[in-house]
Order: sequence, then structure tokens, then C-alpha cells
Amino acid sequence: MPDALPDERFERFEAPGVTPLPHPLTRPELLLAMRSNVLRIWGEAAYRERTLVGPFFGQKSVFTNEPEAIRHVLVDNAKNYTRTPATFRILKPVLGNGLFLSEGEEWRFQRRTLAPAFAPRAMGIVARVTAEVLDEELRRLKAEALGPHDLMPMIQRIAIEVAGRAMFSTAMQRRGPQLRKLFETYGRDLGMPYPSDVLLPASVAGPAELWRRLRGRRWLDFIKAMVEQRKRVSSEGRPRDLFDLMAEARDPESGRAFSLDELRDQFATFIIAGHETTALTLLWSFVLLARSPNLQDAIAREASAHDLSPVGAAAAVESLPVTRAVVNEVLRLFPPAFMIVREAKAKDRVAGYEIEKGDVVSVAPWVLHRHAAHWEKPTVFDARRFLPDAPPPAKFTYLPFGAGPRVCIGAQFALTEATLVLARTLEQVRLKTVDDVAVEPVAVVTTYPSPIPLFEIARR
Ligand code: HEM
Repeated sequence: MPDALPDERFERFEAPGVTPLPHPLTRPELLLAMRSNVLRIWGEAAYRERTLVGPFFGQKSVFTNEPEAIRHVLVDNAKNYTRTPATFRILKPVLGNGLFLSEGEEWRFQRRTLAPAFAPRAMGIVARVTAEVLDEELRRLKAEALGPHDLMPMIQRIAIEVAGRAMFSTAMQRRGPQLRKLFETYGRDLGMPYPSDVLLPASVAGPAELWRRLRGRRWLDFIKAMVEQRKRVSSEGRPRDLFDLMAEARDPESGRAFSLDELRDQFATFIIAGHETTALTLLWSFVLLARSPNLQDAIAREASAHDLSPVGAAAAVESLPVTRAVVNEVLRLFPPAFMIVREAKAKDRVAGYEIEKGDVVSVAPWVLHRHAAHWEKPTVFDARRFLPDAPPPAKFTYLPFGAGPRVCIGAQFALTEATLVLARTLEQVRLKTVDDVAVEPVAVVTTYPSPIPLFEIARR
């Protein structure tokens, strides 16, 4: 972003990052990075080169930052690519046959049928629910927060409460605490990759898998109970939540509706795919805004010009350009879904390289969004990049939500929620971190700051 646009509302500074190794990683270094911080698997060359090819745990792997090649794999020839066996292994026990893992005709049916639940009219539900949850949380925050404060519990409560109420409204009143507890007990562990996930053939179950299946069963049973409970409540004509929209949805082509088990898998998928990703977007936003008092003021000013109450939030959310620019910049520097991996089903050619069936092609939003060829001062936090009058990022260089037919179905949900939470929170409080401890981004399942800083909160 050119410095010709001086604007003191927008602080700019070097964002937290990892220092990449100057050499290609050895196998032990790779294994260690996979378990401790996946962001360390990319050496310096990944941030400079367009495409890198090499073996990755016995498979040929093509890693690309080339927009045309990314478009080819995710959009133009997407049907030649599938999620990898390791992805199925890790996620199947908790996502079942929901949208994320389904394939082919079954996936097309699901995506068509789910589309209305994520259309603009449904975002009105998300905006209202976000404002309601936030009102409760901000009251609590202002009452509690005098000394150093850990914002993470509040952020996690917001994310799970918004997802739960937007999807299940009434059932959430009774089962919400249990849902939160299930998450707290094993949320992050569920997706932790183990070496056996990539080393064992797809047909062989490793020890991690047996453990995941056991816990996954408990999770899916719990979601099913929520679905059953919610199903007993009438919607009284108007869709009350996404449950109503999904339970009533019919495939526009075949007229088929979702069965109870199919609804269970969709909700399990949405809660897992949407909860941690949105929570971490919020956490990183607060970490970066803590260093940007002027930007906090700009967001507060913008927010106070609109009605962000449960009644007005849906109409206001599109009129918060500064807040939205911050969310977009946070998603550039700290994309929660830091890597998109595909396995080829048949021969292809990507970025000039021959691809055989079984080869792996990966795109890492984490690297792409910090790549020297695509961004000016790539590691600098600068929300001006995403103001409405700034030039949009070049095509296929900014993919926090992926691209093509498998693009995130919850993108508008997440953007609506994150924009409203930031605007409403900063309208009411100022925050800064307690001391200047350097944080390191760490990715295991999603990308979080380590250590998670404490914040000082002051009422406006
Ligand atoms: C900031 C928050 C979020 C981020 C960064 C994010 C990111 C992504 C990305 C990158 C993909 C594509 C993965 C691929 O192509 O392999 C994806 C897919 C998906 N996301 Fe999100 N997501 C977020 C929030 C949500 C929310 C709130 C929901 C649901 C309520 C959701 C549900 C899904 C589902 C179901 C898919 C699979 C779509 C398909 O395969 O057709 N996500 N997400």
C-alpha cells in the first residue's frame, strides 16, 4: 500500500510472524513443525518462489503461490481434486458426512440445498443474534474488567453462543452450557495431526483415529440430541434460526430434504468449521488493535454513527468500512485456515509441472498473503489496503475463505459476526495489552497467538 495515503487513523506496524528457515526443511524438522507449529514447515523460498515441488511424506507435493495455478486447481479443474486421506482421517469422526467432507453428487445436493440458509436473509438472523450475545458480554466485561484481562474466554463464548443461537435458538437455552463444555474439554485436540495421519495408508486406522472415533461419537450424539430437541419446537411461520431454514430446505432439483442424521452432520460441521476460525479472527483483531489506539477511535466513531442493537445490526453491518477493512487485513495476516490441500484424482498439469493421480497440491493462504510478489510490505499490518477506495487485491492472491466451488459457505456469517463484534466492542471500550510481550503465531489446527496476551480494558 503506497505511503502516499497518509492517514493518522491507520497505524501501521510490523505484524507478528515466524522467521522462516533459510534452507529446505529436513524430515525431522518437518515432523517437529507439524506437531508444534505448522507455520514453520515453510522455509524462506516459499515466500519468494512461485511454485515449489518436492516429496512430502512419500508423496509428490506441489506447493504453489501462482494465481493462475491456484485458479486451475480450486476453480477450473476443481473436480479433479479431492481432500486428502489425512483430512478425512482427522475430521470424519466429528464432521460425519456434512458439507466439508462430502464429494461428487452428494456434495452438489448438499451445497444446493444449504445455499438458502447462508443467503442474505439468513445473515439478518446472524446479525441480530450477534448483537444480542454481545450486549450480554459487554455488560459483563464492563462490570468485570478492571485489572489485566484474558479476553479469550469471552471471545470463545461469543463465537459458540452466536453459532449455537443462530443455528438452534431455543435448544441453545437448555443445551448451550453442555455444548460449550464439550468444546472446552477437547475442542482443539480433535484436529491435532499425528505423524500416523500422514504416514499410514488410508485404509489403516492409527491409535489417534480410534481415540477420535470414540470422542467423535459422543460429539455427534450430542448434536443429534440438539437437533431432535429443536425439531420439536414450531417455527411459528417465520424462520427463527438457520435450523428452520435447513430443516425446511428442499433440493431445488430433486425435492429431497435432509434426514435427521444429515442435519446432525451439517450442524456438527458448521459449529466446528465456524467456531474456532471466527474466534481467532476476533482474537487477532484485538491483539492488533491493542497497538492501534487511533484505529480503535476510528472504529468507535464509525460504530456510533449506526444502530448496532439487535434491531439495527443487520442494516448497519454493510456500513462499517473501517471495521470491515480491519477484519480483512487480519484475515490476510492471520488466516485461520492457513493451508488448503488437495489430492489429484487423475493426471493434470499445474504451474508447468506434471501431476499424477495421488500427488498433493497445496496452497497456503498464510504464505500467499505474505508473499513478496503479491503484496507491498507484506508483513506490515495496514488496514488501508482494504478500504473501499483502495485497489482490490489481485485475483487469487487473497483467499482467507478459499475459492471455487468449495469456497467457505460461512464466509458472510463470519464477516457479519466479526465486523459487528469489533464495532460494538470498540464503541464501548478501549483496550491495550498489559505489556509488550512478543507473540508468535502458532498453527496447529488454526492460527493462534502464543502467548495469548492479557488486555487492559477501559470504558469509553
Ligand atoms: C473467519 C472464519 C472462517 C474462515 C477463515 C473459514 C475458512 C474456510 C476455508 C478456507 C474453506 C475452504 C477449504 C478448502 O477449500 O479446502 C472453508 C470451507 C468451509 N467453511 Fe469456512 N471459514 C470460516 C468460517 C466459517 C463459518 C462461520 C462456517 C459455518 C457456519 C463455515 C463453514 C464452512 C464449510 C461447511 C466449508 C466447506 C464448504 C464446502 O466444501 O463446500 N466456515 N472455510
